[in-house]
Amino acid sequence: MDRSLISASLLTLLLSLSSFHFVDSTTFKIVNRCQHTIWPGILIGANRTALTPTGFTLESGKSRTLTAPKSWPGRFWARTLCSNDSSGKFSCVTADCGSGKVKCAGAGSIPPATLAEFTLNGDRGLDFYDVSLVDGYNLPMLVEATGGTSGGCYSTGCVANLNRVCPAELRVARGNLGVAGRSPCEAFGDPQRF
Ligand SMILES: *[C@@H]1O[C@H](CO)[C@@H](O)[C@H](O)[C@H]1NC(C)=O
Ligand SMILES: *[C@@H]1O[C@H](CO)[C@@H](O)[C@H](O)[C@H]1NC(C)=O
Repeated sequence: MDRSLISASLLTLLLSLSSFHFVDSTTFKIVNRCQHTIWPGILIGANRTALTPTGFTLESGKSRTLTAPKSWPGRFWARTLCSNDSSGKFSCVTADCGSGKVKCAGAGSIPPATLAEFTLNGDRGLDFYDVSLVDGYNLPMLVEATGGTSGGCYSTGCVANLNRVCPAELRVARGNLGVAGRSPCEAFGDPQRF
């Protein structure tokens, strides 16, 4: 079946994903358009082929390309404000995966985190993608799709810096600086509140 050619980009974290006719893999290009270093993390669906590495450092302006198998469900996010403590344990102020290391090794992001979600070769052999704030927000993210053969491969994402405008009751701050925003659902434990 024809596969669409998709490239995904995130402002700040920019993802590129491409799949080609007759090729059994898809390429994600993750580009950091932030002014600061980010630490992307990757979580795959249960019992599916791992993308490696599961977490890495990406300096401002740099990119890294990863190859996924033809059928692949998974999500990307990016950690910010990471450091090692005196015992060598790695952690991040936002979107930490709790592994204690740069690699997430099967652990997902601790909310709040902006998520890019993918299902490659899903229903009818199509590739699906979205950027979700269901787990809150920590940085702008854009998925850019190019060269699709089945149409509808639009860019999608959230390119606004919501950390500046996040309401006080949802804001995660470091000093005076907003660094993330919790989802109302998670913050209030109540899906009715928006
Ligand atoms: C993953 O594999 C394990 C062990 O084979 C199995 O118990 C589990 O149900 C599988 N999970 C899914 C979601 O398929
Ligand atoms: C933390 O330590 C790891 C392992 O030595 C290293 O790869 C990584 O770059 C360090 N990260 C930071 C933010 O210092």
